[in-house]
Amino acid sequence: MIEISPSIIAADYAHLADALAAIERGGADMVHVDVMDGHFVPNITIGPPVAASLGKATRLPLDCHLMVEEPARWIGPFLAAGAARISVHAEAHGPLRPILEKIREGGAQASVAINPSTPPEVLSDVLPLLDTVVVMSVHPGFCGQEFIEGSAEKVGAVSAQLRSCGLRTRIQVDGGVDETNAGALVRAGARSLVAGSAIFRAADPAAAVEALRSAGAAAL
Ligand code: DX5
Ligand code: ZN
Repeated sequence: MIEISPSIIAADYAHLADALAAIERGGADMVHVDVMDGHFVPNITIGPPVAASLGKATRLPLDCHLMVEEPARWIGPFLAAGAARISVHAEAHGPLRPILEKIREGGAQASVAINPSTPPEVLSDVLPLLDTVVVMSVHPGFCGQEFIEGSAEKVGAVSAQLRSCGLRTRIQVDGGVDETNAGALVRAGARSLVAGSAIFRAADPAAAVEALRSAGAAAL
């Protein structure tokens, strides 16, 4: 089973409810909410109030990806906004363990994202606390960037690391994912695909969700 989590930041911000309806029609599993604070990454997107409104406007669970400098400050507000999963970055400030524990205590799935230049080994101390590992296949900050070649190999390395610990943690890939690379990512061990441009910049976002799922599922 491949999870498809469309990134809402690639949609038209004046028509977010329409974007949610389209990905629901296409059978998306979650909605990916990219939170950027202008410090951890050179861009600003949306915060807890908008996430809460999105949550009220859809039956899809919120997959919140926090690209923020101080994730510890923001776990409470995103739990209150209804996040079903919260991903924090390994490169952000503060120890990961208490953050992940707080996410799980709040009833959400705990996840850590690693940037393209970050080796998977940084996760070794917290692997048992993770529901998901996010392998970034672009440098975070903007949608519409080119997929970084070699990301499937990195997924393979994370997958091997998890298996060696006897874990079956979900691997998500985020950035530049589309129908052309989905198969290789799934073969390498990815089971969750985030896509912004490939879905919301397509003529028919609902069909694009289905197409991405088919491309991924064909590789299982
Ligand atoms: C990058 C974000 C991604 C990205 C996805 O900082 O975390 O979720 O916007 O958009 P595409 O698929 O266009 O790269
Ligand atoms: Zn993201």
